[in-house]
Amino acid sequence: MPKKIAIYPGSFDPITYGHIDIIKRASMLFDEVVVAVARNLGKTPLFSEAERVAMIREAIRELPTVSVDSFQGLLVDYARSMGAQAVIRGLRAVSDFEYELQMALVNRKLDEHMITVFLMPHEKYSYLNSSIVKELVRFNGDVSSFVPPHVEENLLQKMRKP
Ligand code: PNS
Repeated sequence: MPKKIAIYPGSFDPITYGHIDIIKRASMLFDEVVVAVARNLGKTPLFSEAERVAMIREAIRELPTVSVDSFQGLLVDYARSMGAQAVIRGLRAVSDFEYELQMALVNRKLDEHMITVFLMPHEKYSYLNSSIVKELVRFNGDVSSFVPPHVEENLLQKMRKP
């Protein structure tokens, strides 16, 4: 039986406990999960690609079947090149649905064999995203329940810079 491999793509700017919750759930379903940081999305991220990858690597240290990588270009092309059968996306609330459905259908149009799997994080993370975390840090809010300590430290360092 070939290994079941899933790609979990995103900006991860930075990784949050919500993402980590999804990664753990995906790792229960698939033999291998590759967390894939998207490059050149047209957004200007707070963290460089290398910084985002390093923060993810630290966050998944204790998950032996999970790895981290980055990609550019089309997600389906990257996923195929990795031998993956599925793409994982987290769904927090109904508000995520429209964009996620559109992406899943475009990806299916591009590659009918690529299956998008939606996973729901624990409800305590349902209102959480990276933008809110960055905004909280900017205004000295406590983010310790939203991101791991090493990510919080990186956020504080980044915000302290002129
Ligand atoms: O965490 P994000 O920013 O919502 O992730 C979005 C991402 C990276 C999954 C999406 O933008 C993507 O897949 N980009 C790669 C380009 C691509 O394949 N686009 C076609 C699908 S709409």
